[in-house]
Amino acid sequence: MATERTLSIIKPDATRRNLTGKINARFEDAGLRIVAQKRVLLTQAEAEGFYAVHRERSFFPELVAFMTSGPVVVQVLEGENAVLKNRDIMGATNPANAAPGTIRADFAESIEANSVHGSDSLENATNEVAYFFAQTEIVG
Ligand code: PPS
Repeated sequence: MATERTLSIIKPDATRRNLTGKINARFEDAGLRIVAQKRVLLTQAEAEGFYAVHRERSFFPELVAFMTSGPVVVQVLEGENAVLKNRDIMGATNPANAAPGTIRADFAESIEANSVHGSDSLENATNEVAYFFAQTEIVG
């Protein structure tokens, strides 16, 4: 299996409840390494650009408003099969469907306030990592 990097975001509902450390422990306990991390307030333009693929969906304005409503922690996770592994650790988008023991089952409040984002393919991971991080900011 290949070593991969994936983009993770700890969302405003989770930073508001001071859950960054607990969520990071889930990644590290599963063998993923946090090789870059920064806490930022996204601008509207940054959030719109990041979620541009969803711009025609009805919830797009709410999603952008939510993601700019408080601090987020953007991070790069590295490890074997990191993209799929992180999706497993996160659980389903809607916490009502998330498997027990996943981050979203344990922490998410709703399909919008679902605590974490993770890239859904290796191709998207490469693009999403580059959206937030320069190569020099990632220290493996
Ligand atoms: S997925 O993973 O593509 O199947 O999920 P999807 O349902 O397409 O959702 C994509 C992102 O949009 C968020 N979302 C919503 N935000 C606000 N309101 C509603 N109703 C809503 N439905 C979905 C969801 O949290 C996903 O965010 P990310 O950051 O990509 O996980």
